[in-house]
Formats: sequence, structure tokens, C-alpha cells
Amino acid sequence: MRKKIVAGNWKMHGSRSSVNSLLEGIKQGAASCASNVDMIVFPSFVFLPQTEQLMTGTGVAWGAQNMYLDKQGAFTGEVSAPMLTDFGCQYVLVGHSERRSLFWEDLALVAAKLKAALEFGLRPILCIGETLEQRESEQTEQVLTAQLESAIQAIGIDAFKNVVIAYEPVWAIGTGLTATPLQAQETHAFIRSLIAKHNPNIANEICLLYGGSVKADNAAGLFAMPDIDGGLVGGASLDANSFLAICKAAV
Ligand code: PGA
Repeated sequence: MRKKIVAGNWKMHGSRSSVNSLLEGIKQGAASCASNVDMIVFPSFVFLPQTEQLMTGTGVAWGAQNMYLDKQGAFTGEVSAPMLTDFGCQYVLVGHSERRSLFWEDLALVAAKLKAALEFGLRPILCIGETLEQRESEQTEQVLTAQLESAIQAIGIDAFKNVVIAYEPVWAIGTGLTATPLQAQETHAFIRSLIAKHNPNIANEICLLYGGSVKADNAAGLFAMPDIDGGLVGGASLDANSFLAICKAAV
């Protein structure tokens, strides 16, 4: 059986003190969450030392929202995968729609980051998803295929055993509009079938998360779907109680 994952993407939010309270709140509630749910938080880079200090030994993992390809070098403003693992990161988000749209990350760069993350021992969560315009013009499957196939080409299908995929329809991110459980299930089944064309075992084992306005009151319905293995949560992960409620919905 696939393990469920609930991941909190904190984006560019928080201060030293608010991050402290959020982590303490999650830490206190984590023990009461089911052991078959992996909990992960994605703070900003600057809060990673604090996260490592507070969360080591709690069973909650952490990761970074982005990384650069090279190990080190003259790349002003960038952070490398070995720097992340040095601070205990096990995961990294790759290809979040905000990176693709606001920071011009194209298919090639996303695929290269995916490859680099794996090479340096991080487990990437590859984010894919269509815009509203693309959904309305019935291009969803085409867009998801292009995003996924470029990644498969870069790392090979076998490497997907160490990858998590998050389906995040861009129109549902931060908008309060959530895909209905059936809409999300239909797309997740499509993504799994795409992977199955390359390798049915990997398709069966890979964790497919849903992201886009997941909240405590809609999480259980989404997570009950057969191809939805948890969630990537933005806004609702900034409050410990709502994040923990979402983790508890992932039984
Ligand atoms: P949201 O963000 O839950 O605030 O919609 C999700 C994400 O961007 O990962």
C-alpha cells in the first residue's frame, strides 16, 4: 500500500518567531497523527537551521522550496542541494507553478533540477499542473503529458521510484477554488496511467499528491480518492492546527 504524505509549502511567509510557534505546534501534534502519514514542512531557506534544530527526532521531515543545479560556484543568490542536505533536508520542491510562471523555469530547467536533486540524495516533489485557460481549452492532458514526459526523459522512469508527484492545478492554488475530489481523481488517474505506460510497477507505487486550496474541511474527501495519496498544502499549512487536521484526514 502507498504511504500518504502531507506536505506544507510555507512559500515566502514567516519570521523567526512565527516559525518557532508553528514548528512547536506541529511538533506537539505530530505524535497523534497516524504513523502511515509522512509529514513534511517546506520553510524558506533562512528557517532551515531553526527547523532542523526543532524538528530533529520528531518524525516530521523538512525540505526546501527550490534549489540550484550545481554543487557550488559563482551563482549569486542560489542554494545548492548539498547545502540543503547539510541542514537535514530530505526533500525539495521542483517545478512549483510559481517557479515556472514567476521565475521563468521552463521544462528543461525543471527536468535538470529534478536530476540534480536525485544525484545529491534529495527526494524531489515534482509539481505539475495546468492553468485555467489550458483546462478550459481542454489542454490539461497535453500540458501534463509535456511536463511529465520531459521529466521522464531527463531522469529515466526507474528514477521515479524516488520521486513524489504533486498535481496542482494552477487555477486552484491560493484561490480558494479546489478541484472537486472527482475532478482531481480523474486527473490523478490520468497521471498514473501516463507513468504506467513506461513502468506499471512504478505507477502503482508512486505517491501522487493533490495541491490547490487543500483545507481541513475538504482534505478527507480528496484523500479518500483511490489515486490521491496526500496533499501539498500552501495557505492552510501556516497554521499548526489546520495543518495537523489535514494530516489526520490522510488516514
Ligand atoms: P494553496 O497552495 O494550498 O495555498 O492553494 C498550494 C501550493 O501552492 O502548493
